[in-house]
Amino acid sequence: MKSIVVLISGRGSNLRAIVEARLPLRIARVISNRPGAGGLAIAEGRNIATSVIDHRRFDTREAFDGALASAIDEDAPDLVVLAGFMRVLTAGFVERYRRKLINIHPSLLPAFAGLHTHRRALEAGVKIHGCTVHFVSFALDNGPIVIQAAVPVRDDDDEAALAARVLVEEHRIYPQALHWFAEDRLTIEGNRVRIAGHEVETPELAA
Ligand code: GRF
Repeated sequence: MKSIVVLISGRGSNLRAIVEARLPLRIARVISNRPGAGGLAIAEGRNIATSVIDHRRFDTREAFDGALASAIDEDAPDLVVLAGFMRVLTAGFVERYRRKLINIHPSLLPAFAGLHTHRRALEAGVKIHGCTVHFVSFALDNGPIVIQAAVPVRDDDDEAALAARVLVEEHRIYPQALHWFAEDRLTIEGNRVRIAGHEVETPELAA
């Protein structure tokens, strides 16, 4: 069975969804850069090993990422899963885990990379918003896309309402993407990810 290490910074609802999906994957460890992250308790409650590597104890991003990589490598995971991990990673770190680093981002990439995606979607007036699971490459919130889910934007939405609607989809597509990974069905070809045995339904075109 493949193993993963999950990196978090906060409440850990995506971590919970991943744990509860009972995937054919071993969660070797959960690492948080914040000592009080709610996700740590979720992991501890399920006897998953946890570590805290507080980024404030490091002078540079390189030093923090180095400590993080050392901790990850102790478990030699097949995949490093970013689940609400709110630190920008250095190019060296991304290179070290090339094709072995996956992220969820709360927008339909390439739209709204970066922070405050729901607010920016509302400001832009888009009618469709959503979330994306992607392998991580050098540019922020960029890299081969595994799966996306769309949600409608309603006239009366505020940031919180829209975020909640997107989060429901995050909790569905991240376990799905990891399931495919666990079954060795993902192949990265340039910017595209091929999913073995996955038929995407397309509407019939009228003649
Ligand atoms: C999610 O919306 C994730 O996409 C984003 O940060 C949030 C983390 O939520 N990058 P949680 O910690 O998984 O509940």
